[in-house]
Amino acid sequence: MAILPFLSSRTRHSVLRGPLREAGRRALLSPAAPTYVHSPARPAEHTPTLPSTEFSSTGHRRPPPLDWTGAGARMISSSVGISHTRYGSTNHTLNSHKRFYWVPRPQRPSYRPGAGVATNEAHQSVNDSFEVQRRTFGSAAEPIQRNPAYSVLNPDDVSYFKSILGNNGVVQDKDRVAVANVDWMGKYKGASQLLLLPKSTNEVSKILAYCDSRRLAVVPQGGNTGLVGGSVPVHDEVIVNLGGMDKIVSFDNVNGILTCEAGCVLENLSTFVENEGFIMPLDLGAKGSCQIGGNISTNAGGLRFIRYGSLHGNVLGLEVVLANGTVLDMLTTLRKDNTGYDLKHLFVGSEGSLGIVTKVAILTPAKLPSTNVAFLSCNDYMSCQKLLLAARRSLGEIISAFEFMDRQCIDLAMTHLEGVHNPLPNLPYKFYVLIETTGSDESYDKAKLEAFLLRSMEDGLVTDGVIAQDISQASNFWRIREGISEASVKVGAVYKYDLSIPVEKLYDIVEEMRSRVGDMAEVLGYGHLGDGNLHLNILSSKYSDNILAQIEPFVYEWTAGHRGSISAEHGLGLMKAEKIHYSKSPEAVQLMASIKKLIDPNSILNPYKVLPRSVSAAGEG
Ligand code: FAD
Ligand code: MLT
Ligand code: ZN
Repeated sequence: MAILPFLSSRTRHSVLRGPLREAGRRALLSPAAPTYVHSPARPAEHTPTLPSTEFSSTGHRRPPPLDWTGAGARMISSSVGISHTRYGSTNHTLNSHKRFYWVPRPQRPSYRPGAGVATNEAHQSVNDSFEVQRRTFGSAAEPIQRNPAYSVLNPDDVSYFKSILGNNGVVQDKDRVAVANVDWMGKYKGASQLLLLPKSTNEVSKILAYCDSRRLAVVPQGGNTGLVGGSVPVHDEVIVNLGGMDKIVSFDNVNGILTCEAGCVLENLSTFVENEGFIMPLDLGAKGSCQIGGNISTNAGGLRFIRYGSLHGNVLGLEVVLANGTVLDMLTTLRKDNTGYDLKHLFVGSEGSLGIVTKVAILTPAKLPSTNVAFLSCNDYMSCQKLLLAARRSLGEIISAFEFMDRQCIDLAMTHLEGVHNPLPNLPYKFYVLIETTGSDESYDKAKLEAFLLRSMEDGLVTDGVIAQDISQASNFWRIREGISEASVKVGAVYKYDLSIPVEKLYDIVEEMRSRVGDMAEVLGYGHLGDGNLHLNILSSKYSDNILAQIEPFVYEWTAGHRGSISAEHGLGLMKAEKIHYSKSPEAVQLMASIKKLIDPNSILNPYKVLPRSVSAAGEG
């Protein structure tokens, strides 16, 4: 099959080149963000009249026809008469809003790797500094010893890699390797001396076959946006970054099936398929940097999950290189194929512990012409829940996102994110909900959303809200929601938990956590409410054992007690490898360990991650 070069050069260098990524971000933002129509400092010139409701002939309550040309404001308003700010007269409809921005790397202290190719001293100094930090930031209380069964990199190894990848594919430059050693949050730091940049499946195969024969440990790395320490080495593992494998292989524009290399940046793929009249089935705040191979390896959820479901459903085929270099071709594009075990599912969500994903075939849904985004406030969590149920009933086929945030998230976003505006600035509310609809009939979709919102106000579920009138307003709403992780990291220390909990109980743990940490830390609750996925962030200016003692093991015990999951969508990585038993039975964990041993008997792939050492130690001996 011919490999087509990927054309979008705008974003392709984002993986390893921070300044370029920043420049790209500005370039993408500049056309939309500053043209914000509403400004709290410039009140709207006239007050919108409340549209009265009427009943259609079918008995359904319908809003009156909308005046998009006059004041233009589609302010939804409660009858209690909260004074509203509103957007000015733009007749734009949100036919295809985009949320373009890069994931900036937060500022963090520079990391000083050991000199030269790995020496014991280098390991020691790096490990010392790593362990000091690791003890305090959560979920890895025990120091992790380097497994002595792994070889230490030597000059012959480097020469071999140069012989297969060329000089450009073998990076020893300290600054570049240092960047790849640290995760996006600046919490997890490895001590690798070597970063490899393969350009083809064959090169990946040769790298792994060699590493397996030498028993050199390897970390597969995509965009390095993972949030559980899975994408960076723990000790001196060789980093294999897939960013150089960023080509579209083919696009079937009848069935919407994209086949591409694993290093394609998600946002580039979105742009590509949108030009073909399709969209990617997943979307996340890290889209400007994360790669499709990383998305698949973490089974990323994100913002469209409520509509398009899990990658287990959308990934049709994979090409994977196993630890011994075997290329496993499962790159089918068939919708239905029940011939034997569906092995690709083993690799979806296996976080680089079973193989390196090199190619992907993925189903992309059709792009629909009408998108609306509403930003709403609710007085209490019960109202958010009821609103979700009502939205499922009333907006069923057009709902494409239902995200929630508490007030602490909004305050944080307003403090730390540049260029965002609070869409509901008049009063502080306890909860905020972002609802997006995507459908095929613009006027029907709008009318449906507005009727739903008015009804929700009348029923007291929503206290205030706005519907975006153009792309910049929609981007602002989304920027607030997607920017929470970025803003959290700016506070200093972030203890991050990603939980699946029954929706009725989902906010209880946020409140319990608040009372546990008191004024030692700020507690934030937000997430994908439509999927029962809470993101619980506990923020403080610096990591502390006292704070951690209030959080863990409570957070895991509480979640297990409610039959939830301690990793809804981010994975286990290094952070939660030892915690898997809170969500999986001993028998299930044992079977996972057996699979790992079968596929990667020398345990070279992403050691110390995903599975607890008690069961994976056999593979490491
Ligand atoms: P990396 O971080 O590089 O790696 C993640 C894991 O996958 C590691 O274990 C690594 O070893 C493995 N891996 C990477 N590439 C490969 C490969 N080709 N083959 C085998 N293994 C590989 N996650 C969500 O689920 N939903 C969200 O909404 C979401 N939002 C985010 C927002 C922000 C701002 C940030 C920073 C992160 C967010 N994440 C989210 C987490 C993260 O972006 C996802 O987990 C993403 O899928 C990781 O992709 P990546 O390419 O950056 O992978
Ligand atoms: C999100 O939904 O914003 C992401 O999963 C990232 C995070 O939890 O910080
Ligand atoms: Zn999320």
